Amino acid sequence: MILPHAIQEVKDAARVEDVVGEFVALKRKGPRFLGLCPFHNEKTPSFNVSPQLGIYKCFGCGEAGDSITFLTKHEHLSYVEAIKWLGKRYNIDLPEEEQSAEQELEQSERESLAVVQTWAQQWSTDQLWNTEEGRNIALSYFRERGFTEATIKEFQLGYVPERGNQFAAAALAHGFKAELLDKAGWIKRRDDGTPWDFFAGRVTFPIHGLSGQVIGFGARTLKSDKKLPKYFNSPESLLYVKSRSLYGIFQAKKVIASTELCYLVEGYTDVISLHQAGITNVVASSGTSLTEDQVRLIKRYAPTVCILYDGDAAGMKASLRGIDLVLREGLNVKVVTFPEGEDPDSFAKSHSSSELTAHLTEKAQDFIVFKAGLLMADSGDDPVKKAGAIHEIVESVALVPDMVLRSLYIKQCSRLLEVNEQALLSEMNKVLRKQYRKKQGGRADHGKIPERGR
Ligand code: GTP
Ligand code: MN
Repeated sequence: MILPHAIQEVKDAARVEDVVGEFVALKRKGPRFLGLCPFHNEKTPSFNVSPQLGIYKCFGCGEAGDSITFLTKHEHLSYVEAIKWLGKRYNIDLPEEEQSAEQELEQSERESLAVVQTWAQQWSTDQLWNTEEGRNIALSYFRERGFTEATIKEFQLGYVPERGNQFAAAALAHGFKAELLDKAGWIKRRDDGTPWDFFAGRVTFPIHGLSGQVIGFGARTLKSDKKLPKYFNSPESLLYVKSRSLYGIFQAKKVIASTELCYLVEGYTDVISLHQAGITNVVASSGTSLTEDQVRLIKRYAPTVCILYDGDAAGMKASLRGIDLVLREGLNVKVVTFPEGEDPDSFAKSHSSSELTAHLTEKAQDFIVFKAGLLMADSGDDPVKKAGAIHEIVESVALVPDMVLRSLYIKQCSRLLEVNEQALLSEMNKVLRKQYRKKQGGRADHGKIPERGR
């Protein structure tokens, strides 16, 4: 926790016109400053900044607040992150309340891991561009895949030489402790303790945290040997928690917020190819099904997630259940499928940008509609199977927290499934009551008494 007096010091020092001025071109007009509002689209400036009052206000869209509000809204920082941003900007030390010894150790391990990962990213990027092996093997691989130099640089891609455990040698010579390199996942050990480079002979995809810090890596083999795992990933650490990170979020977050839409793909290369094709509001779950924390992360930026599926029906069906989680968090879910055998990466390569954009907008289906179609096609004319499918769809609809949206879905499903709306409604209410009882039961188990009169 940052101490209150330090927060006050930051607030006193932060000049609203400076802070806003970093992101918006402002012109002085008498006692105020004026600019184009960054929160809505406008051609004539109605965004006012008042140094005297320490606030900004847009007379077009009504957005208003102080320096901290601005950073939380415009840069999507948390309150604490905004204070830290300002502390850095104005050179104010932010002493934190005393941490326990354990917290301090964790903090310092996290910071050490961050230093290692940043160094490792720079080292592997250097290997890619500035060594013969890197250029001949890895850079040419990326080029063959159609990645431009700008893209390779933006995503800080890299390469680890195949022979000689060169990473371990360089990192140890640089002064990193062996134990730290083990924890960061860069070095593995043989039974006799000698180190070897875990990512040797692989191209590297750094995974960034929200603020751009490198927290982990994915590393792809360049061999076509099917027995080798295609990707290696950094192990979990205090810095890299898989269930809370999304590949590409740092590069995508601004556009996710401004378009109010987040595309979700499976792989690293899907993110990168879509980016290069101009679709920049895209992140990957990196091969695992979405977690609650990832969904909440997306929700901080946008109300809608659009899932891009490879054209493989088995995979789609397997992931249907996982999406219930997204519905439960109150996100709108859309789905786009690709032709059999194509993933977003290959589709982006074989089509023009405008064809890709058209595909994404025209083929987007609401998730509930998509699921209904898939399950109904499967159950054919079998009434028992059909009833089972209907029940499953209704269970998904029941997860949507918004009542109005739920009833709209029921209407839509009634049409699609050719089932009476009233029947669907009462089926859903049954599910809702069951869920409610479960929740109540859950509370009672924890021995909590419901609050009254508030
Ligand atoms: P390319 O073949 O390079 O285009 O990669 P891809 O992203 O298309 O790979 P694929 O569709 O096979 O897998 C999707 C995602 O799953 C990858 O981006 C990885 O995050 C993950 N993944 C794939 N293979 C492996 C593996 O062998 N091990 C691990 N840990 N993850 C994998
Ligand atoms: Mn692929």
